[in-house]
Amino acid sequence: MAFNLFTLGYLIASICVVILLPLVITGLLYLLYIAYVRLKFAHMPGPKYSSFLFGNLAELKRGFADGKTFPTIVYEWSQKYGRVFTFAVLHETYVMISDVVAVKHLLVTVNCPKGARPYDTLGTIYGQRYLGHGLISERCHEKWAKRRSVINPAFHRRFLQLSMDQFNASVDLLIGKLKRKADGESTVSMLDEFYRLGLDILGKVAFGTDFNVIFEAKNHFMEANQLILSAFLRRMRSPLEDYNPWSRGHREEVRATVRFLRKTGRDVIEKRLAARLNGEEVKEDDVLGYILKASDYLKNPEYQMEDVVDDFVTFFLAGQETSANTAAFMLMELVRNPDILERLRMEIEEVLCGRMEVKFEDLSKFTYMSQVVKETLRMYPSGPAVPRFLEKEETVAGFRVPGNSNITIDLFTMARHEEYFKDANAFNPDRFNDADAITQNASIPFSMGPRNCIGQNFAQIEIKVIFAKLLPLFDFKWIPGQSYDIGETGTLKPKEGCQNYITMR
Ligand code: HEM
Repeated sequence: MAFNLFTLGYLIASICVVILLPLVITGLLYLLYIAYVRLKFAHMPGPKYSSFLFGNLAELKRGFADGKTFPTIVYEWSQKYGRVFTFAVLHETYVMISDVVAVKHLLVTVNCPKGARPYDTLGTIYGQRYLGHGLISERCHEKWAKRRSVINPAFHRRFLQLSMDQFNASVDLLIGKLKRKADGESTVSMLDEFYRLGLDILGKVAFGTDFNVIFEAKNHFMEANQLILSAFLRRMRSPLEDYNPWSRGHREEVRATVRFLRKTGRDVIEKRLAARLNGEEVKEDDVLGYILKASDYLKNPEYQMEDVVDDFVTFFLAGQETSANTAAFMLMELVRNPDILERLRMEIEEVLCGRMEVKFEDLSKFTYMSQVVKETLRMYPSGPAVPRFLEKEETVAGFRVPGNSNITIDLFTMARHEEYFKDANAFNPDRFNDADAITQNASIPFSMGPRNCIGQNFAQIEIKVIFAKLLPLFDFKWIPGQSYDIGETGTLKPKEGCQNYITMR
């Protein structure tokens, strides 16, 4: 009996050692690794860690609980710790950079590659191919450069000039819808309307297709983008989300939504190919036309159906969200600043003289509108940060940043530094009329360097056409009690949806 007890005890102890010892050793090694990483960045400024293990996780969580967004938390830190600082979460240290000279150096001269975690998550989310190897998520410079050169012509001035009819037609549809709602008492989320409009424009201009979203009661595409973006943010904040048993339902929903978007892309592509095969007249000079030509109509082994779908979903995401958010922020500031709104209306009247159609030649005459758009993008860059990877050690604004570091170019914070823009938190489009009042390259909402935004002209045309057509027709009244706060789901947007009462003028 005593022997049996002894054997049992021995067995249990052995099992404990076999199971626990590796765990203890792994834990110790992990702690050692954290200590090594903390030491590597110890010379750099940044918020104090409230926990050795978790780093600044608690401070971030507290900020989110107080209704702040990641960009606003980081902005507050930068006011204390400067234009280059670090913070840490577990073993990851993030180097935040908002120094104008350093940013140009890193994005243009060094041309740092994109960071693995964010862009690979966009490439494949919860095991499902999302943006795949599309323009945004492709990290290999050579592969990206090939693709970018193929798609570039679709964004040239000539092509956009030819697309003015479609820009106008989409906004006309929205005007028709808003007229029905312009009773001064219906609540209208202009963010939601701009999302629909953004999709309509993108469908028509980039893919020669009609998504029929402006009048639909339920907007599946918009919901799809929102769900995936919030999943992206959730996944970025918690890498363990892939394994969380309580998130199984969420992961499946996201995968199904990604499949839905990719199938939509495949259908559009197949329709275009079938029409071409049947000898019908098809567009060759829109985004889809250029992509299909580059793929030699899917005969190029390096550019197959799934690669073309990657580009479709990439533009679907990049081209719709960001412009719509910008339009909603701009409307928010116009409603908040009636003097600016009136000045803008006067300019529109002078340029269009009551005409409803906006022509390409009109765009360059909207000088004050350009300033308003620039100021909106300065204060509310829809993509607030660009994560990059620093391969070799660099001195960044006087600090030695070790090689193999995750760095973040903080566009939001850089454009709000008092050193770069006087009264940086005030909405003042006039600052862009005075070269001495701004610091060149301190507001770069479309990023800079080789991987800047390919759609920046597209977006600016879209926004100008929207406001040139809407402002002469409608008055917008901000629904009282609604905050002017910034919300975040991967991109920045007015937190409460830019809700307005609308009346005809
Ligand atoms: C106001 C609207 C927009 C803003 C603020 C914006 C901002 C940006 C930023 C900051 C980047 C760099 C992202 C990075 O480095 O990860 C980017 C890239 C990109 N944007 Fe935009 N964007 C806007 C509109 C558009 C539109 C309308 C399209 C297409 C129709 C578009 C397509 C893209 C693509 C494909 C890339 C990746 C470019 C590359 O790496 O070659 N964007 N955008």
